[in-house]
Amino acid sequence: MAFNKRVKIKTILDESPIGSEVTLMGWVRTKRSNKNVSFIALNDGSTITNYQIVADPNVISEDILKNCATGACLKVTGKVVESMGAGQASELNASSIEILGKADPEKYPLQPKKHSLEFLREIAHLRMRTNTFGAVFRVRHALAFAVHKYFNDKGFFYIHTPIITASDAEGAGETFKVTTLDLKNPPLNEEGAVDYSEDFFERETNLTVSGQLEGELAALALSEIYTFGPTFRAENSNTARHLAEFWMIEPEMAFYDAEDNQDLAEDFLKYVIQYALDHCAEDLKFLDQRVAEEEKGKPQDQRSELGLLDKLKFVVENDFERLTYTEAINILRNSKPNKKKKFAYLIDEWGADLQSEHERYLVEKHFKKPVILTDYPKEIKSFYMRQNEDGKTVAAMDILFPGIGEIVGGSQREERLDVLTQRMEEMNIPQDEMWWYLDTRRFGTTPHAGFGLGFERMVLFVTGMSNIRDVIAFPRTPGNAEF
Ligand code: 4AD
Ligand code: MG
Repeated sequence: MAFNKRVKIKTILDESPIGSEVTLMGWVRTKRSNKNVSFIALNDGSTITNYQIVADPNVISEDILKNCATGACLKVTGKVVESMGAGQASELNASSIEILGKADPEKYPLQPKKHSLEFLREIAHLRMRTNTFGAVFRVRHALAFAVHKYFNDKGFFYIHTPIITASDAEGAGETFKVTTLDLKNPPLNEEGAVDYSEDFFERETNLTVSGQLEGELAALALSEIYTFGPTFRAENSNTARHLAEFWMIEPEMAFYDAEDNQDLAEDFLKYVIQYALDHCAEDLKFLDQRVAEEEKGKPQDQRSELGLLDKLKFVVENDFERLTYTEAINILRNSKPNKKKKFAYLIDEWGADLQSEHERYLVEKHFKKPVILTDYPKEIKSFYMRQNEDGKTVAAMDILFPGIGEIVGGSQREERLDVLTQRMEEMNIPQDEMWWYLDTRRFGTTPHAGFGLGFERMVLFVTGMSNIRDVIAFPRTPGNAEF
């Protein structure tokens, strides 16, 4: 029988074709045997639910049964019959089992017991075979699909922006260099510095920190676009929220002001979460229970009030709180942790950058719902954000989520050439290298806006996992590029 005749376990569970003869393929999760029969729990990743294979030692040889150990890969043919056991409607009566790939139970790193997430990170090449990671990656897929569906249904065009660039859009200087020069013996110029004109691109290049600038070029032609691609930041932040390589979604819209931008972002986030609730019920139920168990191990005052599913529903059903940076600073200045000096960074003056402790206070303690913070001081934001009338603030927005902190950063863009070039001058951004960006302000400029959603932070929120390393298949963080 050809391989592609196999039936997925999800299909069997959905359709329960009692009496039909099918072939399943998958990995053994557990095997229980007695004299008369063996029960094998098989999983093929199509669903979190294992399928029960019943193997009669009079039909399946002892040698084969011995190799049906945890981790082995099997091809099983048999008849779908009604199940006597609780919890599932049908099971497979095996007429033949072929071992596609053996797994020595003594050496297989994944045992049927509970492993810590830290240990599983060290065996990331196998961790997708666990219930938790299977669920996380099926949900991640659904979220990615929902992103494309949302924008496609709205008539936005998906633009692929370059991964190698010569600019640092965010101006934070946290780029990974791209070069083919010999690091031991690079060509030098007259000043003794590395001569990048000899390099592959005949200039200094790096991995992109954002597709926004190119996204703006596209929006000023196609009006509504989005990007969804890998993004690289060499920030040395060893936190549960930062990756050196992550995926970002960046919509950019001509003819949008700051408020239109906020409305779109809120609608988009709610849509994507609702999509997961509608399409990942089984996996989210499992993850909800996982989170509930994890919460039990925490001290009372650190437990969250809502379970995972309730939290997701809450976000979808309630308006986000919108306030300005200035209003937020006033709340923070008068907050208990600020007065009692509990914050590591005390809020004193207007103009201070907000740390994640402040963001989380606003979202988790004060408002207890997602917050859209707007109109930040221009000094703590990027050059491209549109200056407000007050001359002090810009039309920025950050969206803060419970348990996550900043999930979205965006703004209305500075479309006025004179204001933009003056700001670039103040911030020492070379205008000659950015001639192409400035051209959009020279020719047919218009108000426009956009934002960036950190995809892994969204996956983190929806799955209830607590470390960003556990929602991307092979995380890249300082000191770690294994797999
Ligand atoms: O706030 P950021 O830096 O904004 C931009 O890059 C803009 N160009 C977006 C735009 O307006 N088009 O990053 C956007 C989001 C953050 O809110 C966060 O969710 C995520 O990207 N992010 C990270 N996620 C994981 N690891 C990191 N190191 C991240 N840095 C940012
Ligand atoms: Mg930001």
